[in-house]
Amino acid sequence: MAEVTLDLRGQPKAEAYAELKSHALAILEGIDDDICAMATMSCLLHNAFGHLWTGFYRVVTPGKLLRVGPYQGTLGCLEITFGKGVCGTSAAKGETVVVADVHAFPGHITCDGRSASEIVVPVYGRNRELLAVLDIDSEHKNTFDDVDRAALEDLVSWFQHRAP
Ligand code: SME
Repeated sequence: MAEVTLDLRGQPKAEAYAELKSHALAILEGIDDDICAMATMSCLLHNAFGHLWTGFYRVVTPGKLLRVGPYQGTLGCLEITFGKGVCGTSAAKGETVVVADVHAFPGHITCDGRSASEIVVPVYGRNRELLAVLDIDSEHKNTFDDVDRAALEDLVSWFQHRAP
């Protein structure tokens, strides 16, 4: 196993994500446990980029309820209803949501007042069922763009393609 936790701040985003992905795949080789993978990805992403909050909300009642899963950062809200906030919107739509300014997003749920922008990416399982959403919050506005969107969607495709 590759044991190090990478700090990729300062590298161009696309290169940083490529390095992070190959590192994550090496660490997760042979793993077939979703919670283990969520914890590992949260740790790697959080330490690589140093954002405010990085973690997963798991689907506990399909179409209805998300509950916090592995994360890094300050205390996260424990439960989010589908359709509420950025996480619930992403879960309800089954689409990535990029928010440049959380204060301009109607219904944004504030867990940490320092949060200024956010990206939420749906996580699908092997049967294309929604397993969770990956949520990353930044202290700065306009942090996330299409590079983050594509790279994070690609990273969490691990859950869809992992071996049984
Ligand atoms: N801001 C999110 C809630 C979760 S946390 O910020 C950790 C939302 O609006 O869904």
